[in-house]
Amino acid sequence: MSQRLVSFERERILHIVKSLKTQLLTSLGLTIIGGGLLIPVISRKIVRPLRYIEKTTHRIAEGDFTPIVVYDTHDETQRVVEGFNRMISELEKRQDQLLQAKKLSSLGTLTSGIAHQLNNPLNNISTSCQILLEEFDKVDAELSHRMLNNIEHEVHRARDIVRGLLEFSRIKEFCLAPTVLLQVVERAVKLISSHVPPGVEIVLDVPRDLSLNLDAQRIQQVFLNLIENAVHAIEAPGQIRIKARADLAQKQVLVVVEDTGKGIPEGELGRIFDPFFTTREVGAGTGLGLSIVFGIVQKHHGSITVESRESEGTRFTMRFPIETEC
Ligand SMILES: Nc1ncnc2c1ncn2[C@@H]1O[C@H](COP(=O)(O)OP(=O)(O)O)[C@@H](O)[C@H]1O
Ligand SMILES: [Mg+2]
Repeated sequence: MSQRLVSFERERILHIVKSLKTQLLTSLGLTIIGGGLLIPVISRKIVRPLRYIEKTTHRIAEGDFTPIVVYDTHDETQRVVEGFNRMISELEKRQDQLLQAKKLSSLGTLTSGIAHQLNNPLNNISTSCQILLEEFDKVDAELSHRMLNNIEHEVHRARDIVRGLLEFSRIKEFCLAPTVLLQVVERAVKLISSHVPPGVEIVLDVPRDLSLNLDAQRIQQVFLNLIENAVHAIEAPGQIRIKARADLAQKQVLVVVEDTGKGIPEGELGRIFDPFFTTREVGAGTGLGLSIVFGIVQKHHGSITVESRESEGTRFTMRFPIETEC
């Protein structure tokens, strides 16, 4: 009797173990199938939007604040993307405020610069006129001639300052057209050649077939200003090199103007593009050259950077996008 009971119990336990095994295998199978089905859903709902957000953060870092497209999924992903877009728009606002503050601070430099720069020639003109008026009967022809020459020279100086300001505020119409870069560079070099002292060599390494959408006159101004600065920085003998090449992978053209001049002290590097920043003696430079260059390059959707080592030289690198619309 007891033996039958034992065998019955054993049968029952074996049955339970078997059914547990089946249940375990079934649930394992179901989990695997469910997991397999869930992977594409997770990828579509979570991984893909995360990748998109990651890509967008890189875009924002490069200054592109276009918001992400929001899809009506009514879930957490939609809320995250909406929150992300709010952050982008806040960032853009802050960036604009920063730019505005920077503009206002350069306006301050600009106004005091204009006052300072125009004051010098006006004072000189006024002194020369006073001498001429007070000593009208006594001064000889030679002195009057010298005074008048001086007045004319100062008037030209004031005119140059005003011209520079007009260029700085970009009053003339701006128009891009396909332009052979080498032609613009050669024209600028020709125009400045009379100011290049002997012993200063200008070397061009610009492909003849490199053409870009440019405002030729303004880009010529860029080269004139950069070459002029390089000439002033070089104590002959020295070299100014102008190089250009297309970087098709980055869809941009790199233009370099470098010199073997005295270089720029590190403390001044951050200020050289400020209007009226100059280290040249009073009356020699307006300090507008590089701020004009900066404005023109920016208008072409390009960028300009500077590297310099004292007593070795300076290199300005400009980058222009290859597809710039007119
Ligand atoms: N190639 C260069 N080498 C050394 N210093 C330079 C160079 N280019 C510009 N600088 C510095 O930047 C200053 C500002 O240049 P710029 O805006 O052209 O005004 P300016 O030539 O009238 O001084 C110069 O006074 C000079 O100190
Ligand atoms: Mg200059």
